[in-house]
Amino acid sequence: MSAPLLRLDGVAKRYGGLQALDGISFEATGGEVIALLGDNGAGKSTLMKVLAGAESADEGTISVRGEARDIRSPRQAEQLGIEMVYQDLALVGTLDAAENLHLGREPRRRGLAGRLGFIDRASMRRETVEQMQRLGVTRLSLRRTVTMLSGGQRQAIAIARATSRGSGSDADRILLLDEPTAALGVGQQRRVQELITRLRERGMLVIVISHDLAACFEVADRLVVLRQGRKVADVRTEETSTQEVVGWITGAAEVGAR
Ligand SMILES: Nc1ncnc2c1ncn2[C@@H]1O[C@H](COP(=O)(O)OP(=O)(O)OP(=O)(O)O)[C@@H](O)[C@H]1O
Ligand SMILES: [Mg+2]
Repeated sequence: MSAPLLRLDGVAKRYGGLQALDGISFEATGGEVIALLGDNGAGKSTLMKVLAGAESADEGTISVRGEARDIRSPRQAEQLGIEMVYQDLALVGTLDAAENLHLGREPRRRGLAGRLGFIDRASMRRETVEQMQRLGVTRLSLRRTVTMLSGGQRQAIAIARATSRGSGSDADRILLLDEPTAALGVGQQRRVQELITRLRERGMLVIVISHDLAACFEVADRLVVLRQGRKVADVRTEETSTQEVVGWITGAAEVGAR
């Protein structure tokens, strides 16, 4: 057996007197979709931020592909193949899809023009079309600024940006999505679910935070529930029920945590 793609051992994080994460341990492999569930303030976003290098853990170890790693910045996380899409998506509304997708790493034109800093817009647009097709988004206006796109289209750009960085294949990369469908309509939510499924098929590990239990049951292989910073359940989706999960989330089911 090879090492799991991601392994957490006793990860803890305090904010002043508040224990946001308390001894979180779990393992996950590529090609898996994990839904991270829990009430408001349970520690879900904090856990994702720790994995994405936006916050650092006070205790515990995080291993990626079998090696313990100190993830101190988003850049380090990125180098390890870990990308996070924040709930606000962090897109620039006044730029178009291609500009957002390439933000901070715009390709240069060949030769002197490139050395003088001229950006290769044609290749940016080409790559954007490719990335969007890869995610199954076909009708997207490349001329519109992002504020003029739909929530689902914006979501696709944010996911494309997160999944197109770095080198290597999708397999063994880790994508963290913090409430990706919270602001979306039903049709767009479906679209994002399809994206997640497609990324799983490509071997990516996807960890998604969502308050939409029905969607989690549909898209996730596993459900991990946090309550007051502790992991109170970690089960295969087909081995549990909505009722049981609600019990874990609310704390009604004090016994039988697994
Ligand atoms: N930067 C911070 N400084 C101080 N406390 C924080 C900070 N970020 C989070 N917390 C606290 O840590 C706890 C966990 O917060 P976190 O954002 O991880 O919750 P969550 O599970 O994502 O909740 P939600 O579903 O509402 O997004 C909360 O009590 C929150 O108030
Ligand atoms: Mg949160």
